[in-house]
Amino acid sequence: LKQLETDFIGKPVQLHARMDSTNSYAKENLTDLINGEIILAHEQTAGKGRLGRNWTSPAGASISLSLVLKSDIPFERIPLLTQLTAASLVKALDAWADVQIKWPNDIILNNKKIAGVLVETEFSGRSLNGIVIGIGINTNVDQMDIPEDLQSKATSIREEKAGETDPNKLVARFLKHFENFYVAFLGSQHTEPFLSICREQSVLIGKDYWIIDKEQKRKASIRTIDPTGGLVVTYHDTNKTEVITSSDLSIRGE
Ligand code: BTN
Repeated sequence: LKQLETDFIGKPVQLHARMDSTNSYAKENLTDLINGEIILAHEQTAGKGRLGRNWTSPAGASISLSLVLKSDIPFERIPLLTQLTAASLVKALDAWADVQIKWPNDIILNNKKIAGVLVETEFSGRSLNGIVIGIGINTNVDQMDIPEDLQSKATSIREEKAGETDPNKLVARFLKHFENFYVAFLGSQHTEPFLSICREQSVLIGKDYWIIDKEQKRKASIRTIDPTGGLVVTYHDTNKTEVITSSDLSIRGE
């Protein structure tokens, strides 16, 4: 990465032609990886998405990146890393497109998903061994390579005619923004710099959606993102306002 201007995020870089999943690799090799190290793969054969979904990363048409963090972050603050990553992606992508965030982890362009974030943790007993931040960006994926069931929901930067992305520049920009937010987050616990971006660029805030978990589907008005990174919603059936965390939920318009 020629254009990298960070102190430790993105150092070193491991570049692989083909992998099952950069996140799985990072988790399996965590002891050999250092804080800030990144794994990039040209192609993933078994990319993972949130909620156990698959993530398609065709050769050369997308960016598959995993970033390893080894700081000791309290368990309840880990969801904030998804928000920090999403805000960093918004800033990195603003050279090409004005993207939005569908809480917690979807990056949206013209109402369709172009990128996603998957944060995973590795514990031994109660102590945190490391955190793996996985990022998948559909830069040049052709519409015809998007799985049929996702055709109406997913797209790529190229398909949306946002111009030709330079992957080196995009990744370098992302890592720089991530480092800035992350250093402020660790040092002085500052979360507003990235949470304010997540609120401003939110797809959900101010609208009504269905909140779906394993058992039920409830309509809610989406209010804001609170300082812990949770989504503040008012359920229509009870008229109660609650904070929801990302864990097992999916949020849909219909
Ligand atoms: C989602 O939107 O559900 C999250 C998608 C995350 C995909 C990235 S690609 C790099 C890293 N390795 C994986 O297997 N998944 C993440």
